[in-house]
Amino acid sequence: MAALTVLTKSLGYHCAKRSKISTFSQNFPSHNSRFQTLRTLILEPSLSESVKLNRLSDYNSGIVEVNLDRPEAKNAIGKDMLSGLRHAFEAIDRDSSARVVMISSSVPKVFCAGADLKERKKMTAAEVHSFVNYLRSTFSLIEELQIPTIAVIEGAALGGGLEMALSCDLRICGENALLGLPETGLAIIPGAGGTQRLPRLVGKSIAKDIIFTGRRIGGRDAMSMGLVNYCVPAGEAHPKALEIAREINQKGPIAIRMAKRAINEGIEREMVSALDLEEECYEQTLNTKDRLEGLAAFAERRKPIYTGE
Ligand code: COA
Repeated sequence: MAALTVLTKSLGYHCAKRSKISTFSQNFPSHNSRFQTLRTLILEPSLSESVKLNRLSDYNSGIVEVNLDRPEAKNAIGKDMLSGLRHAFEAIDRDSSARVVMISSSVPKVFCAGADLKERKKMTAAEVHSFVNYLRSTFSLIEELQIPTIAVIEGAALGGGLEMALSCDLRICGENALLGLPETGLAIIPGAGGTQRLPRLVGKSIAKDIIFTGRRIGGRDAMSMGLVNYCVPAGEAHPKALEIAREINQKGPIAIRMAKRAINEGIEREMVSALDLEEECYEQTLNTKDRLEGLAAFAERRKPIYTGE
């Protein structure tokens, strides 16, 4: 209960600074109702039945897990699930105690089967347009979280499922993973960031091969083309992701946020401006208690204890 109270407070005090994320449309809740349901999310384990927000505790405190749980549709993203995802990531964005996010699935052999094609069939073109815009902006919200995000992929990550993973900082998969963007086979294109994030990650030529053919790529091949950071034996993606999350969690939290910002924003700039950004981000770490703690711990040959101050 104490943890819930702390999170409620941090949500109350930390207003979102997200300005680039918009494109809210008629089918989705207003900002006020969104804020209202955020509080519900904290007091209840989930907003949507299909998306669970788990805050790990004790040694893993600071690690937050967003768990996809829609077994009957292989975690396909429909309106309800998209709403759940949006609320979960907005809650994390406002939570100053969150340090690392893992996105995982509790459905065996699938991470996420992409957009809900059964629901899609019943939508008008206008509804599809607003749904895809909202999906795209939700994945941008994931990408723009200040803290590191890790996609934990066992089994299929297709269409929007792979696009969600692409919006994360790291991807860890099991050998049985199947990754692909099959949209052109449905006579559409990846519309939730896939055409932009995939070439930025693996290069234009490989991205074109994957998108033009829609083929499914196994875990080992995904690893060799740089699509995932680690490929581990099937079933071991989660423990590997937790191991990486713990490593990150032990580092200086402000340093991690600044490193992410410097990389993400810097890569879009030319070098002189990018190095100015690095200086700006470095400055943010200079006058922190954590920097002094790091130096003290080194001198005293002990592990540092960082508080994010
Ligand atoms: N949207 C809606 N329902 C989906 C779905 C999707 N994207 N993907 C799977 N489902 C449903 C299936 O229709 C099936 O429902 P049913 O039991 O009512 O027939 C159920 O989930 C189980 O799917 P099934 O194909 O039998 O499971 P599987 O384990 O053999 O294969 C996948 C899993 C994910 C590999 C396979 O379902 C698949 O390829 N899905 C389509 C993925 C896709 O093309 N996504 C791109 C969207 S742009």
